[in-house]
Formats: sequence, C-alpha cells, structure tokens
Amino acid sequence: MSFAGKQVLLGVSGGIAAYKAAEVVRRLVGEGARVKVVMTAAAREFVQPLTFEALSGQPVACRLFGPGTQPLEHVALGQEVDAVIIAPATANLIGKLAAGLGDDLLTTVMLAATRPVLLCPAMNDRMWDNPVVRENLDRLSARGYQVLPPASGDLACGAVGPGRLPEPELIVEAAARLVTPQDLAGARLVVTAGPTHEDLDPVRFLTNRSTGKMGYAVAKMARRRGAVVTLVTGPSSLAAPHGVEVVPVRSAREMLAAVEKHFDAADALIMAAAVGDYRPESLAETKLKRGKDHLEVSLVQNPDILKAVAARKGRRLVVGFAAETGALLAEAGRKLREKNLDLIVANEVNRPDAGFAADTNEVVLLSRQEPPVALPLMSKEEVADRILDWLAPRLAARRQEEPGG
Ligand code: CTP
Repeated sequence: MSFAGKQVLLGVSGGIAAYKAAEVVRRLVGEGARVKVVMTAAAREFVQPLTFEALSGQPVACRLFGPGTQPLEHVALGQEVDAVIIAPATANLIGKLAAGLGDDLLTTVMLAATRPVLLCPAMNDRMWDNPVVRENLDRLSARGYQVLPPASGDLACGAVGPGRLPEPELIVEAAARLVTPQDLAGARLVVTAGPTHEDLDPVRFLTNRSTGKMGYAVAKMARRRGAVVTLVTGPSSLAAPHGVEVVPVRSAREMLAAVEKHFDAADALIMAAAVGDYRPESLAETKLKRGKDHLEVSLVQNPDILKAVAARKGRRLVVGFAAETGALLAEAGRKLREKNLDLIVANEVNRPDAGFAADTNEVVLLSRQEPPVALPLMSKEEVADRILDWLAPRLAARRQEEPGG
C-alpha cells in the first residue's frame, strides 16, 4: 500500500483518454490514496465530473472563479499533496505548462505546484511526432517532471502508432515510485515465487498450493522502492509486475538453474517460491494408463535451491521463507541456520487467512542477531514491505563498506 495516507492530485485534460483517468482514480483509491481531481473545460466535454467525484469521494475542482471555488485553491492544491499526476496530458496542456501559462485552474495549480509531477501525454501520433511537442516535453523533463511516454497501438482517430495513454496500472506504478522512498535504488534483487511442477507423464505433474502472491508482492514492492528485480517464477496465473524481469520456470531443477544464473549479479535473494521437495524418479514418455488397482510412483529428492546458493553467498543477503504447519519458530530457526540465511520469514500455511492463495499473511521475521519480530495479519504487499524494510538498510550498509562505496 504505497499510497496509504498519501494525497494525490490528478489533473485531467481534454482528450478521449480522459475516460481512462477514471480507472486511475479507482486504482489509487484502492491503494489507499486520497485523490483530488482537477479537470480542464475540454476534459469535461469527454467525462462528467460526477464520475470522478463518485470514484474519489471528493468534489472535483474545475474553475478558477465563480460559485463553488475556494480562494487560493489554485495555490494550495499543488503544494498540499504528495504527488501530482496529469493523465491524459494533451499537446495543448503540455504547451501551456512548458510556456508557463496559467489561464485556467489546472494550469494555474501547476504554476504554483511544488510536489513531484508525473506527466502522461496522450494524443494523435502526428501531434506526438511534432517537434514542438517534443521540445515542450524536453523542457518539462528538464524542470524535473517525470514523463511517462505514450504507448503504441490503435488511436481514437483510426491511426495506429504512438500516442495512447499507457494503461492505468502502469500510470499508478510510475506514480507509486514518486511517493515511495527509493531506498533500494542501485540494488539488484532476485526474487522467486510460485509453485513448481514436477512432471510424471506428458499430462500429469506434482505441485503444491502456492499461487505466487507473496513472491509477486515482494517483486512489485522492491521495484517500487527502486530495485532492479529479476522474478524467477514457477507457473502462476498472476500478471507480471511492471518493470520486473520475469524468468518463467516449471520444475525445481529449472528454478535452481535460473536462480544460480542470476544470483551472481545480485545483491540479495528472496526465496518465496514453494519448491517441490520431490519429483518422480522417471518421466513416463507416454500417458500412464488406467487399469492397475495400485500404482506406485517412486520419488527422488530435489535440490535445495536456497541451501545451494546460500552456501556461496559471499556478501549477498539471502532471505528464505518457512512454510510450516506446526512448531513455527523452532522449524524456522533450524532452517535459518541450516540453510545459512540472513533472514527467514516464518508463516503457518494451514490457515485460511495466511499462507498459500490468501491475500493476507501473518508472519514472524527471524534473523541471526535480532529477536524475532511477530507481525500482525496484514496484506502480502505490506508483508513484502516489512521484509524490504529489514533488507534495505543492511544492503545500503554493505554498499558503504565496499571499496569506493
Ligand atoms: N526451498 C528451496 N529448495 C527446496 C525446498 C525449499 O530453495 N527444494 C526454500 C523455499 O523456497 C523456502 C525455504 O527453502 O524459502 C524453506 O522451504 P520450506 O518448504 O519451508 O522447507 P523445506 O526446506 O522444504 O523443509 P520441509 O519441507 O521439511 O519443511
């Protein structure tokens, strides 16, 4: 919940993509933000303020003067918030911002704004290619605006090319980085997630109940905090987090190879995957047929990925998870030592509100030196943040110790 307790100003200017801004509001509110929407007159030709009022739960500001306006609102709005998003930003609005004009509420607010700005241009492809638009954007970038380039694809005018407003999810991700301290900037993390599939025959496999939610949450929050993230994931139906390199694998042995490959260049490994401990000894080339009353399948042990890589971790930090159904702390403590980990996240997986498939988790953080930290039930994204809160200062300290650090 990067936006919990944060205030965001969303400026909407008059392009067809204004309808997508409604979804941006919905997502921001869903992440805990208070959103104040400012619309231009042209934006109101495309979408009614009521849509934004209903989604944000706040009155939409549209005018500089007249009934319903607040004195000095144009000065206060861009200073009270944590971040400003302008989506869509039309070529006309971009031109006015670059020139420093203030002829309506939104442009006047922007003249006085002191908070970080994310500008999301959306326009026809010819307009986007016009050098004057590019020059204006360059000027705004040079002044510290963050510009999210438009996506390519079908445009409302029938053309196909660059100019589409990026998907709301991408806008929210970019905005999240504006309101999140970049305490993992410069760090490279390998994160694992999901179950493994161990094939028995061409149509069957052994697996477990993991969905990947915990590892995906760690990858997403680490990226929001500025890390370069490689997500090695077993089969999962979750959408890949934006800005994260995704390496899909199936079996434990494939996961081992992928983790080993990316571990060398990493500063830390967070191993949230539920790796299958056993695999069928042999893989049948054709489908196993019914008929026998008893079928015995012989299983052999898979490599312990965490143990293998942590044995040669050097200065890297290694975080594991302990999935337990009893003796939580004793088992997690044993795994911490035996696998040579720096931190283990212990969770009971036989509860409906924690462990596999749940959106929430209740964990204990167990490290080598410090006393165990029992966290209350919270969302997996919050758990991810707490793990990263532990990791970030330790990674920074290690970087400082390095020659030239
Ligand atoms: N792990 C791993 N390779 C395996 C099994 C587990 O890297 N073959 C990792 C998991 O990703 C997790 C940690 O080791 O971070 C602990 O996993 P867990 O399933 O709790 O424990 P196991 O080591 O498998 O021991 P057991 O099943 O006996 O509890």
